[in-house]
Amino acid sequence: MSASASHYTAAILVAAGRGERAGGSMPKQFAMLAGAPILLHSFRALSHHPAIGRVIVVVGDGQEEMARTALGEDARLVTGGATRRLSVRAGLEALSADGGADRVLVHDAARPFLHAPVVDRLLRALDDAPGAIPVLPVVDTLTRNAATGLLLGEAVSREGLWRVQTPQAFDFAVLLDAHRRWSGDEALATDDAALLRALGHDVALVEGDAALEKITHKEDFVRAEVLHSVAIQPRTGMGYDVHRLVEGKPLWLGGVAIPHDRGLSGHSDADVALHALVDALLGALAEGDIGSHFPPSDPQWKGAPSHRFLTFARERVEARGGRIAHVDLTLICEAPKIGPHRETIRARIAQLLAIPVDRVSVKATTTERLGFAGRGEGIAAHAIATILLPDL
Ligand code: CTP
Ligand code: MG
Repeated sequence: MSASASHYTAAILVAAGRGERAGGSMPKQFAMLAGAPILLHSFRALSHHPAIGRVIVVVGDGQEEMARTALGEDARLVTGGATRRLSVRAGLEALSADGGADRVLVHDAARPFLHAPVVDRLLRALDDAPGAIPVLPVVDTLTRNAATGLLLGEAVSREGLWRVQTPQAFDFAVLLDAHRRWSGDEALATDDAALLRALGHDVALVEGDAALEKITHKEDFVRAEVLHSVAIQPRTGMGYDVHRLVEGKPLWLGGVAIPHDRGLSGHSDADVALHALVDALLGALAEGDIGSHFPPSDPQWKGAPSHRFLTFARERVEARGGRIAHVDLTLICEAPKIGPHRETIRARIAQLLAIPVDRVSVKATTTERLGFAGRGEGIAAHAIATILLPDL
């Protein structure tokens, strides 16, 4: 587990611009793209990431109602300023007034397709620097026009040049201080990393993501829509697991400790529900099973919490450029009753998989006292996972 897990991380989503270059009847962040307002895509990506504790949304004066329509009544909204920097500053001051954070991510609402691995890379890099930004290499030849007009001037080397994206991640106190001290030209503060650099702080570079491209002009909507819908293949996997119920063990089901007179026995914490889910995800990827990745013969998994296995499976899906669309779990046991714990288990699984809770189904049944589950000798779990993989 990386050190980043012990930090409280908040996110500031800046959505207070007017979207003048994109045109249209409303500012671009409220326009629809791939079935949802752009702002909702970026908001969901941040709020569903397991490492991010809260999201503050900065909107323009008069945009509150549009933001509430897009995000719902519960979103924490703050009024932004005349420039992007002033909007970030407003978000940071609101976060500070709310009790602050250890770390903060600052993200443009206009970059709707944020995948979790970018956030993971940024937070890992923050272990060694007070700031981290996602970048992509420049691939086109760069050139400059001659001083005398539209004629080719001197060549520009691509060497050492990168395109900078958001989210950008920072030590919260360092970024807040940089904003409070900034007295430079507002035009030079096009992103938050520039403020840290002006004070001499290190900013780490991590690999960005083509999907993060900003929506700036009208044409970008079409490009983003196409990019989003490029052939994706739904894949389904199933998983099944059984563990024995024994005296003197805690009972873990779906990543939740459940009060019961007995617990499941196994090499790890024996969380039969998470094991079935791991196998379902690995099955959808056609990448073996839990035993091939975490052999019971390996002492390092003895007593291991099974959420680590599920996180691994989620990361395997992400590494293939995929997304988890839905999981469905059925627990088979006579006791304990699952009903009272269902919502807690759903929420925990949703958190571990970084997906909304309405994509997580948890069901339970008895076997009418028949068989090993019916006699209370063990608990079985079936899981089905549906994932969406790029058709590469
Ligand atoms: N932004 C902001 N406050 C501002 C200006 C911009 O919160 N005063 C936000 C935008 O909503 C966007 C991000 O900063 O999510 C990046 O800015 P940009 O792409 O330039 O968006 P706009 O300023 O809205 O667009 P334009 O410059 O074309 O008017
Ligand atoms: Mg702008």
